Amino acid sequence: MFRRLEDSAPERIEIEIDGEPVLVPAGISLAAALFYLDAMPSRRTQLSASPRAAFCMMGACFECLLEVEGEGSQRACQLQVRPGLRAWRQLDPLEPGANS
Ligand code: FES
Repeated sequence: MFRRLEDSAPERIEIEIDGEPVLVPAGISLAAALFYLDAMPSRRTQLSASPRAAFCMMGACFECLLEVEGEGSQRACQLQVRPGLRAWRQLDPLEPGANS
């Protein structure tokens, strides 16, 4: 789906996705980091558990919601990665606190 045309950000920083440390290019959005890591889907819908992933990449569609630093439903496309950032995909929305 998305692929970097060239690697213009050679610096990598470590963040955590679902409790696992990963290296991603510095300066990209958290949503772009998930595409970079091929970590899809990024969430599932509450009623049907349909898989979802970032779509608009500009804050309008709300398809990129993640739990970030303990706060649920943050738009990953509006957050820039920083060293030590901790995020969880919202894959089990039917169980409250499943991502805590
Ligand atoms: S991708 Fe649409 S709001 Fe984030």
